[in-house]
Amino acid sequence: MQNQIQDILKQAIEKINKCNTEAELLETEKSFLGKKGSLNEILKGVKDLPKEDRAEIGKLANQVKQDINTHIQNQKQNIQDKALDAILEQWHDVTLPGIKPQKGAVHPLSLIQEKVEEIFQKMGFMILDGPEVESDYFNFDALNFKKDHPARDMHDTYFVGEPQNKDGDKLLLRTHTSPVQVRGMLQHKVPIKAIIPGRCFRYEDQDATHEHTLFQIEGLYIDKNISIANLKGIFQEFLTKLFEKKIEIQMRPGYFPFTEPSVEFDFSCPFCKDGCRVCKYTKFIELAGAGMVHPNVLKSAKVDPNEYQGFAFGFGLDRLAMLYHNIQNIKHFRENDIRFLKQF
Ligand code: DAH
Repeated sequence: MQNQIQDILKQAIEKINKCNTEAELLETEKSFLGKKGSLNEILKGVKDLPKEDRAEIGKLANQVKQDINTHIQNQKQNIQDKALDAILEQWHDVTLPGIKPQKGAVHPLSLIQEKVEEIFQKMGFMILDGPEVESDYFNFDALNFKKDHPARDMHDTYFVGEPQNKDGDKLLLRTHTSPVQVRGMLQHKVPIKAIIPGRCFRYEDQDATHEHTLFQIEGLYIDKNISIANLKGIFQEFLTKLFEKKIEIQMRPGYFPFTEPSVEFDFSCPFCKDGCRVCKYTKFIELAGAGMVHPNVLKSAKVDPNEYQGFAFGFGLDRLAMLYHNIQNIKHFRENDIRFLKQF
């Protein structure tokens, strides 16, 4: 019987060590030490032993019970420790250095557009929008480009084959933001004071300053008392605010079918006093086309030119952004190279 009891201890230890949960452990305890457990089953035979052996067996049985219990307690502790470790593994060690998330940045074109919009808004201009797929009528006819006018050739145009619009007019990708002059006046009536930022498209030979996609800002101010002096003053104020230094404006005669008279605008180089690479040592930088809105354009917008007049201007936002941020190649704007975008 002593051997049997020792065997039980051996079996119990083996089984206890294999237990992975507290429930399994409880089950094992019951199977060895419970009322119907294997130890009790053996001890049932004690009564048949000679008297002098009984005390011996009783002592051994108690010892084995205690040993089994100790093993059970140890294993229980092991199981609990393991469970705690598993929980702790999921926790974050707050003392570890963090992982830096990739930081987004505003695109330099959006950045300059926001600045331009803010300055003009503070001067009372509203911001208008227009379609990028435009009709031949609004892109050209309404702006006083006669059908066979050579100025149409200067706007190397992407035509959209089909569909034509409901008036049977050809559709195209707008070559400039000027069509929104007429759309704006038709929709909002005069007096009107608006800027129109937007994407335009031209079938251009591409180089460091020309792309098939370009951004423009158009300006329009129509009222009863507007002259070219207002145009000069507003433009000077805009550039002075943008470059945060006093800017001078220079106007040269120009030609656009939709303005009369037309001018080309230069502004004093904000980067030098006596000439530099940016202004090509001329101290002035070319920026915009402008002029007094042609009476035929006002008529397209159902505005009486005898009652209202005003100015319009347009310039390339890409060009301004390149000047402002000292960017050498227009290509960078659309390449989406994160190393370029991160600089702003
Ligand atoms: N639309 C012209 C262009 O794309 C720019 C321009 C010139 C706009 C004179 C104007 C303007 O409003 O008055 O070349």
